[in-house]
Amino acid sequence: MKGIVFVGFFELVEKEFGYEMVDKLIASCNLESKGIYTSVGTYSHNEMVQLVTKLSEFSGVEVPVLLKTYGQYFGKAHLRKYNMFYEQASDTFSFLESIHNHIHVEVKKLYPEAELPHFDSNRVSDSILELVYTSARKMSAFAKGLIEDTALYYGEEVEISQKNIEADGSKVLFTITKL
Ligand code: HEM
Repeated sequence: MKGIVFVGFFELVEKEFGYEMVDKLIASCNLESKGIYTSVGTYSHNEMVQLVTKLSEFSGVEVPVLLKTYGQYFGKAHLRKYNMFYEQASDTFSFLESIHNHIHVEVKKLYPEAELPHFDSNRVSDSILELVYTSARKMSAFAKGLIEDTALYYGEEVEISQKNIEADGSKVLFTITKL
């Protein structure tokens, strides 16, 4: 997992829970990186699993809620700077449709070691898009936060429902409805 994902995570932890929580997390997890991350470095996904699990334990906030909030933050704070991708799409649906065949493809060219999810999309009607998320990292809650941030960027109101296709969360169907 790329370091930028960890850097953004610690920014949000510090903002929401204070620096003591950052310290407490690093001290209580068994991190190969020792909690030192650079944006372009690559680290084990297991470190993120440990950090989010511990943060949930310490804060009492459930893991999916933490990941969704983190997705919203990461979109706004880190993805918006890739403005060419946002400018190439005219609305939430066309942006989401372009992740798999365009955006994440470019990311992979820049960072061949990036571990990216697979997305299949299906435009059911003008107002409904189905997006199937597949990833061994099971971060669909993070994806949901990113989808919400995308809609915020395009100034559109959407309702997002999600259903596990695989019980372990490695394959999830999102149905996104424009209101
Ligand atoms: C400008 C747009 C985007 C860029 C530049 C981008 C880039 C990236 C990068 C660099 C990673 C980290 C890969 C790694 O850690 O190895 C990532 C992961 C991820 N991206 Fe994107 N992304 C974008 C938009 C989106 C959107 C809108 C979604 C949601 C539908 C999304 C879903 C995900 C998820 C869920 C992961 C976590 C890894 C996984 O679940 O397997 N991305 N993306």
